[in-house]
Amino acid sequence: MLITIPDVLTPQQVAEARQILDQAKWVDGRVTAGHQSAKAKDNVQIPEGHPAAVKLGDMILAALGKNPLFMSAALPLRVFPPLFNKYSGGQSFGTHVDNAIRQIPGTPHRIRTDLSATLFFAGPEEYDGGELCVEDAYGVKQVKLPAGHMVLYPATSLHHVTPVTRGARICSFFWMQSMIRDDGQRTLLFDLDMGIQRISADHPNHPSAVQLTGVYHNLLRQWAEM
Ligand code: NI
Repeated sequence: MLITIPDVLTPQQVAEARQILDQAKWVDGRVTAGHQSAKAKDNVQIPEGHPAAVKLGDMILAALGKNPLFMSAALPLRVFPPLFNKYSGGQSFGTHVDNAIRQIPGTPHRIRTDLSATLFFAGPEEYDGGELCVEDAYGVKQVKLPAGHMVLYPATSLHHVTPVTRGARICSFFWMQSMIRDDGQRTLLFDLDMGIQRISADHPNHPSAVQLTGVYHNLLRQWAEM
Protein backbone atom coordinates (compact mmCIF):
# COMPACT_ATOMS: atom_id res chain seq x y z
CA MET A 1 0.00 0.00 0.00
CA LEU A 2 1.21 3.47 -0.90
CA ILE A 3 -0.39 6.18 1.22
CA THR A 4 -0.06 9.95 1.54
CA ILE A 5 0.06 11.35 5.07
CA PRO A 6 -0.93 15.03 4.67
CA ASP A 7 0.21 17.86 6.96
CA VAL A 8 2.74 15.90 9.00
CA LEU A 9 4.40 19.27 9.63
CA THR A 10 2.79 22.71 9.85
CA PRO A 11 3.85 25.47 7.41
CA GLN A 12 5.69 27.11 10.34
CA GLN A 13 7.63 23.91 11.04
CA VAL A 14 8.50 23.57 7.36
CA ALA A 15 9.72 27.20 7.22
CA GLU A 16 11.86 26.71 10.34
CA ALA A 17 13.28 23.48 8.93
CA ARG A 18 14.10 25.11 5.61
CA GLN A 19 16.19 27.78 7.37
CA ILE A 20 18.18 25.07 9.13
CA LEU A 21 18.50 22.97 5.96
CA ASP A 22 19.66 25.95 3.89
CA GLN A 23 22.58 26.49 6.30
CA ALA A 24 23.46 22.82 6.79
CA LYS A 25 26.43 20.94 5.39
CA TRP A 26 25.59 18.70 2.40
CA VAL A 27 27.77 15.79 1.25
CA ASP A 28 27.67 13.21 -1.55
CA GLY A 29 24.57 11.03 -1.04
CA ARG A 30 26.38 7.80 -1.86
CA VAL A 31 27.51 7.58 1.81
CA THR A 32 24.30 5.78 2.82
CA ALA A 33 23.76 3.82 -0.38
CA GLY A 34 24.30 0.09 -0.69
CA HIS A 35 26.70 -1.28 -3.31
CA GLN A 36 24.03 -1.62 -6.00
CA SER A 37 22.17 1.64 -5.38
CA ALA A 38 25.41 3.70 -5.18
CA LYS A 39 25.69 3.30 -8.94
CA ALA A 40 22.22 4.77 -9.48
CA LYS A 41 22.34 7.51 -6.84
CA ASP A 42 23.21 11.15 -7.58
CA ASN A 43 22.21 13.65 -4.88
CA VAL A 44 23.52 15.31 -1.72
CA GLN A 45 22.68 14.54 1.92
CA ILE A 46 23.23 15.93 5.38
CA PRO A 47 25.68 13.57 7.15
CA GLU A 48 24.08 11.08 9.57
CA GLY A 49 24.27 12.39 13.13
CA HIS A 50 24.81 16.01 12.03
CA PRO A 51 23.13 18.31 14.63
CA ALA A 52 20.75 19.72 11.99
CA ALA A 53 19.64 16.20 11.02
CA VAL A 54 19.18 15.18 14.66
CA LYS A 55 17.16 18.30 15.53
CA LEU A 56 14.88 18.08 12.50
CA GLY A 57 14.64 14.30 12.79
CA ASP A 58 13.35 14.66 16.35
CA MET A 59 10.78 17.19 15.14
CA ILE A 60 9.56 14.75 12.48
CA LEU A 61 9.37 11.77 14.83
CA ALA A 62 7.48 13.81 17.45
CA ALA A 63 4.97 14.89 14.79
CA LEU A 64 4.53 11.33 13.50
CA GLY A 65 3.99 9.99 17.03
CA LYS A 66 0.91 12.24 17.28
CA ASN A 67 -0.38 11.44 13.77
CA PRO A 68 -3.24 8.85 13.93
CA LEU A 69 -3.19 8.17 10.16
CA PHE A 70 0.55 7.39 10.25
CA MET A 71 0.23 5.20 13.34
CA SER A 72 -2.63 3.22 11.78
CA ALA A 73 -0.96 2.81 8.39
CA ALA A 74 2.58 2.00 9.62
CA LEU A 75 2.01 0.31 12.99
CA PRO A 76 5.63 1.25 13.67
CA LEU A 77 7.93 -0.74 15.93
CA ARG A 78 11.24 1.06 15.29
CA VAL A 79 11.94 4.11 13.14
CA PHE A 80 15.32 4.93 11.63
CA PRO A 81 16.55 8.47 12.45
CA PRO A 82 15.39 10.63 9.50
CA LEU A 83 17.96 11.57 6.83
CA PHE A 84 17.79 14.56 4.47
CA ASN A 85 18.57 14.78 0.78
CA LYS A 86 18.59 17.36 -1.99
CA TYR A 87 18.43 17.00 -5.76
CA SER A 88 19.23 19.87 -8.16
CA GLY A 89 21.01 20.50 -11.48
CA GLY A 90 19.69 17.37 -13.19
CA GLN A 91 20.40 15.02 -10.28
CA SER A 92 18.34 11.84 -10.00
CA PHE A 93 18.25 8.41 -8.38
CA GLY A 94 17.82 5.48 -10.78
CA THR A 95 15.72 2.41 -10.10
CA HIS A 96 16.79 0.61 -6.94
CA VAL A 97 15.49 -1.21 -3.89
CA ASP A 98 16.34 -0.08 -0.35
CA ASN A 99 18.57 -2.25 1.86
CA ALA A 100 16.51 -4.75 3.89
CA ILE A 101 18.46 -4.28 7.12
CA ARG A 102 19.98 -1.07 8.45
CA GLN A 103 22.17 -0.46 11.48
CA ILE A 104 20.95 2.48 13.55
CA PRO A 105 24.06 4.71 13.70
CA GLY A 106 25.84 4.84 17.05
CA THR A 107 23.82 1.93 18.46
CA PRO A 108 24.04 -1.88 18.35
CA HIS A 109 20.45 -1.95 17.01
CA ARG A 110 19.40 -2.95 13.54
CA ILE A 111 16.01 -2.51 11.93
CA ARG A 112 14.32 -4.40 9.16
CA THR A 113 13.07 -1.84 6.64
CA ASP A 114 9.42 -2.76 6.06
CA LEU A 115 8.32 0.75 5.05
CA SER A 116 10.04 3.68 3.35
CA ALA A 117 8.97 7.28 3.94
CA THR A 118 9.66 10.51 2.05
CA LEU A 119 8.64 13.82 3.65
CA PHE A 120 8.72 16.83 1.35
CA PHE A 121 10.36 20.11 2.43
CA ALA A 122 10.08 21.85 -0.95
CA GLY A 123 6.74 22.54 -2.64
CA PRO A 124 6.04 21.23 -6.17
CA GLU A 125 6.18 24.81 -7.50
CA GLU A 126 9.83 25.14 -6.45
CA TYR A 127 11.26 22.55 -8.84
CA ASP A 128 10.66 20.62 -12.05
CA GLY A 129 11.05 16.84 -12.15
CA GLY A 130 11.96 15.06 -8.92
CA GLU A 131 8.95 12.73 -8.98
CA LEU A 132 9.28 9.70 -6.72
CA CYS A 133 8.17 6.75 -8.87
CA VAL A 134 7.20 3.61 -6.97
CA GLU A 135 6.51 0.33 -8.79
CA ASP A 136 3.83 -1.92 -7.42
CA ALA A 137 1.69 -4.75 -8.77
CA TYR A 138 -0.60 -2.25 -10.53
CA GLY A 139 2.11 -0.21 -12.27
CA VAL A 140 4.21 2.84 -11.42
CA LYS A 141 2.84 5.50 -9.06
CA GLN A 142 4.33 9.00 -9.34
CA VAL A 143 4.51 11.05 -6.17
CA LYS A 144 5.26 14.76 -5.72
CA LEU A 145 3.65 16.31 -2.66
CA PRO A 146 3.23 19.73 -1.03
CA ALA A 147 5.81 20.67 1.61
CA GLY A 148 4.99 19.09 4.96
CA HIS A 149 3.26 16.06 3.41
CA MET A 150 4.73 12.55 3.47
CA VAL A 151 4.41 9.39 1.40
CA LEU A 152 4.67 5.96 2.97
CA TYR A 153 5.31 2.92 0.73
CA PRO A 154 6.49 -0.67 1.08
CA ALA A 155 10.30 -0.78 1.23
CA THR A 156 10.08 -3.92 -0.89
CA SER A 157 9.15 -1.78 -3.94
CA LEU A 158 11.51 -0.84 -6.76
CA HIS A 159 11.58 2.96 -6.97
CA HIS A 160 13.43 5.90 -8.50
CA VAL A 161 13.53 9.70 -8.47
CA THR A 162 13.36 11.49 -11.85
CA PRO A 163 15.96 14.19 -12.70
CA VAL A 164 15.40 17.60 -11.11
CA THR A 165 15.77 20.02 -14.03
CA ARG A 166 14.90 23.30 -12.22
CA GLY A 167 15.21 24.39 -8.59
CA ALA A 168 15.90 21.99 -5.74
CA ARG A 169 13.94 19.08 -4.30
CA ILE A 170 14.59 18.85 -0.55
CA CYS A 171 13.18 15.91 1.40
CA SER A 172 13.62 13.80 4.47
CA PHE A 173 13.71 10.06 3.93
CA PHE A 174 13.80 7.18 6.39
CA TRP A 175 12.64 3.67 7.03
CA MET A 176 10.73 1.84 9.70
CA GLN A 177 10.22 -1.65 10.97
CA SER A 178 6.53 -2.33 11.44
CA MET A 179 4.95 -4.58 14.04
CA ILE A 180 3.33 -6.17 10.94
CA ARG A 181 6.02 -7.34 8.53
CA ASP A 182 3.70 -8.25 5.66
CA ASP A 183 2.32 -5.40 3.55
CA GLY A 184 -0.90 -7.32 2.77
CA GLN A 185 -1.68 -7.96 6.45
CA ARG A 186 -0.80 -4.37 7.34
CA THR A 187 -3.13 -3.09 4.61
CA LEU A 188 -6.00 -5.28 5.87
CA LEU A 189 -5.57 -3.90 9.39
CA PHE A 190 -5.49 -0.34 8.06
CA ASP A 191 -8.66 -0.86 6.00
CA LEU A 192 -10.40 -2.44 8.99
CA ASP A 193 -9.38 0.46 11.24
CA MET A 194 -10.68 3.01 8.72
CA GLY A 195 -13.99 1.13 8.47
CA ILE A 196 -14.36 0.98 12.27
CA GLN A 197 -13.72 4.72 12.54
CA ARG A 198 -16.38 5.43 9.89
CA ILE A 199 -18.99 3.21 11.59
CA SER A 200 -18.19 4.79 14.96
CA ALA A 201 -18.64 8.28 13.51
CA ASP A 202 -21.82 7.52 11.53
CA HIS A 203 -23.50 5.26 14.10
CA PRO A 204 -22.18 6.02 17.57
CA ASN A 205 -22.97 3.23 20.06
CA HIS A 206 -23.60 0.65 17.31
CA PRO A 207 -22.58 -2.71 18.84
CA SER A 208 -20.85 -3.78 15.61
CA ALA A 209 -18.19 -1.13 16.21
CA VAL A 210 -17.18 -2.87 19.44
CA GLN A 211 -17.25 -6.29 17.77
CA LEU A 212 -15.09 -5.12 14.85
CA THR A 213 -12.68 -3.37 17.21
CA GLY A 214 -12.31 -6.73 18.92
CA VAL A 215 -11.53 -8.39 15.57
CA TYR A 216 -8.93 -5.68 14.85
CA HIS A 217 -7.12 -6.22 18.14
CA ASN A 218 -7.30 -10.00 17.91
CA LEU A 219 -5.74 -9.92 14.43
CA LEU A 220 -3.05 -7.55 15.72
CA ARG A 221 -2.43 -9.96 18.61
CA GLN A 222 -2.02 -12.85 16.14
CA TRP A 223 0.24 -11.04 13.69
CA ALA A 224 2.28 -8.47 15.64
CA GLU A 225 6.00 -9.03 16.18
CA MET A 226 7.59 -7.03 18.98
NI1 NI B 1 15.39 4.30 -2.08
